[in-house]
Amino acid sequence: MLKLVVKGAKPLRGEVNVSGSKNAALPILAATIMLPGRSVVRNVPNLLDVTTMIRVLRALGLRAEYSQSSPNTVNVWNYQVRHVAPYELVTKMRASFFVIGPILAVKGLAKIPLPGGCAIGSRPVDIHIKGLEALGARVELEHGFVIASANRLRGAKIHFDFPSVGATESVLMAAALAEGETLIGNAAREPEIVDLANFLIAAGARIEGAGSEQIRVEGVPQLAPVEYTIIPDRIEAGTLMVAAAITRGELKLKRVVPDHLTATINKLQEMGVRVVPGSDEIVVAAGDGFKAVDVKTLPYPGFPTDMQPQLTALLSLSAGTSVISESVFENRFMHLPELCRMGADIKLEGQSAIVNGVSRLSGAPVRVTDLRAGAALLLAGLAAEGETLLEDRDHHLNRGYERLAERFNALGADISKK
Ligand code: EPZ
Repeated sequence: MLKLVVKGAKPLRGEVNVSGSKNAALPILAATIMLPGRSVVRNVPNLLDVTTMIRVLRALGLRAEYSQSSPNTVNVWNYQVRHVAPYELVTKMRASFFVIGPILAVKGLAKIPLPGGCAIGSRPVDIHIKGLEALGARVELEHGFVIASANRLRGAKIHFDFPSVGATESVLMAAALAEGETLIGNAAREPEIVDLANFLIAAGARIEGAGSEQIRVEGVPQLAPVEYTIIPDRIEAGTLMVAAAITRGELKLKRVVPDHLTATINKLQEMGVRVVPGSDEIVVAAGDGFKAVDVKTLPYPGFPTDMQPQLTALLSLSAGTSVISESVFENRFMHLPELCRMGADIKLEGQSAIVNGVSRLSGAPVRVTDLRAGAALLLAGLAAEGETLLEDRDHHLNRGYERLAERFNALGADISKK
């Protein structure tokens, strides 16, 4: 159990470097399964989910480790790949399931535990499976494992029912080594998809259209190891922007790609937050109050679901009534009752949260249910009067953010471990 005590109502001020993207690092590390030899991945955030993926790679027979000399570099040596992923690791982190495409492409057989649903919803993998079957794989479910086999993957024309990020990544990786051409329709367009595609292209894959809803892949016989630097984490950047606004401070975010945050920047500006994007930095400062706005989460480039809890915390202090609709996950409002314990006035109606802004929040003991809910409660604690005690039983915050409390403290926060 991780317990954090946040002494609130202190403005954050200063400059902060944005970490590398967790959601780019995870599929890219999975993709090293397809690259025989030594690969080097740079700008990898040092956090629990990446450590879990490293442990999955080791369990599959690769050697993988954070570099001793450079904390945000991961070295991978790939000289053998086993086809069975370990149950206890895959059920610990859903993203481990993304190794199914690479293992199937390389071994012709993959046995991966069904990932547990997690707090934010059931999160099936049917779109992943349909995509792999379209590439010629036979897929069975046995005793909680997904067993996929194929003598040779063949390119196919695929159309996703929903632009699933993980399914786009699994199928993109498998298609890179399939025979012939694959077209993925209704593909996810997130920047992390583009980063994975660029990583695979650097390794010799032939991919066009990543970042659009139609991706074309021409399979190649094999890929080669690469050295690659991943993109900054747009969700960490968005979280830091909300931190500047909600504490009525001013932050300069550095090593960020503003174009990956257009929907978030627009929504904050609509609320009256001063946001000035540069080429690789963004200055954010609270205006003299926040206007209520309506927001609906959508696949990229729409407003990101991974920013919904953080924006909800900010909207709870806005003037007026906001309606927040969550269209991506069926159960991503577990932060609402916790925010209400801090004095927020929020009601859940179906898949929409109705937020009546209040003038202040007060510190309280709150429970962290999932990663971004934890971020939202930490942000609310930074703004609240008095002390907030975050109980993070499953270390969600350390899974998804690198040294967040330490970095907030360097900007003027007062967060301590209990
Ligand atoms: C990725 O998860 C991210 N994780 C999530 O970030 C993010 O919230 C999500 O994309 C949406 O942007 C990583 O990249 C590691 P999806 P993923 O497949 O791939 C349904 C965070 O906080 N679905 O796009 O699991 C699913 O149930 C995490 O960093 C199916 O029905 O998301 C969900 O409702 C949380 N069948 C919706 O699609 C499938 O086969 C979006 O899921 C796959 C998904």
